[in-house]
Amino acid sequence: MIVLNNINKVFNSGKANEVVAIKSLSLTIKEGEYVTIVGSNGSGKSTLLNIISGAEMPTNGTVNIERNDVTRLVEYKRSKWIARVFQNPLSGTAPDLSIIDNFRLAALRTQSRGLTIGVNADFKKKVKEKIAILGMGLENKTEQPIGTLSGGQRQALTLLMGVMDETKILLLDEPTAALDPRSADIIMKTADSLIEEHKLTAILITHNLKYAHQYGSRLIQMSEGEIIKDFDNQQKKDLPLTDLFSWFI
Ligand SMILES: Nc1ncnc2c1ncn2[C@@H]1O[C@H](COP(=O)(O)OP(=O)(O)O)[C@@H](O)[C@H]1O
Ligand SMILES: [Mg+2]
Repeated sequence: MIVLNNINKVFNSGKANEVVAIKSLSLTIKEGEYVTIVGSNGSGKSTLLNIISGAEMPTNGTVNIERNDVTRLVEYKRSKWIARVFQNPLSGTAPDLSIIDNFRLAALRTQSRGLTIGVNADFKKKVKEKIAILGMGLENKTEQPIGTLSGGQRQALTLLMGVMDETKILLLDEPTAALDPRSADIIMKTADSLIEEHKLTAILITHNLKYAHQYGSRLIQMSEGEIIKDFDNQQKKDLPLTDLFSWFI
């Protein structure tokens, strides 16, 4: 559960280049809800995710995660609850390390109990099982440096590595923007099944209106730092894709 109360975010306050990125924004996202956010460039979508993850602090307002006030809690102390995937496939993994070592690093970071790194063979087996689900054949390449893989493969692994046992929230910021259509579909489907399996609360930012329409249980449009549309599951289901396209004309 995520509760944002009256959030403002001002960059370069008082200077000539002052930007009000988020304006008096309040938003409650319930346990297990999957929100897709659409909006033009610069409408504050990424800033909103940054405020939830702790990468940015709000200028005013409060942030609650899993019923804890985390407004002033630094990013790494929230990271046990939060998995993030960004647009750039290069940002989520260490390129020189093998797939298996990247998973070790991720498990250490979140101190996941499920993927205990104690017994090596056991850990490898669990990682292979996890990545076999992708259907990309990566389970046979676990000793290969991640830097040698395609963007789509790296993005898929970033997603899997991010979601550990304690993860409650998944934040996806244009995760498919840099990918070919087939890899993009794999990422979207994998995210959807992880959200379902781990009962995650999730936010997807996307410019792909087909995905925004197809995935999730709630649809939000942002403009100039504000929420201008907020459709619940039923309203979203009733919304024709062509209507969604017309929001951007
Ligand atoms: N670190 C920053 N410093 C200054 N301005 C920023 C910073 N991050 C975002 N902004 C500004 O805040 C506004 C919202 O940006 P952003 O949240 O990235 O929008 P979106 O993700 O919807 O494209 C934009 O005008 C952007 O230039
Ligand atoms: Mg953005």
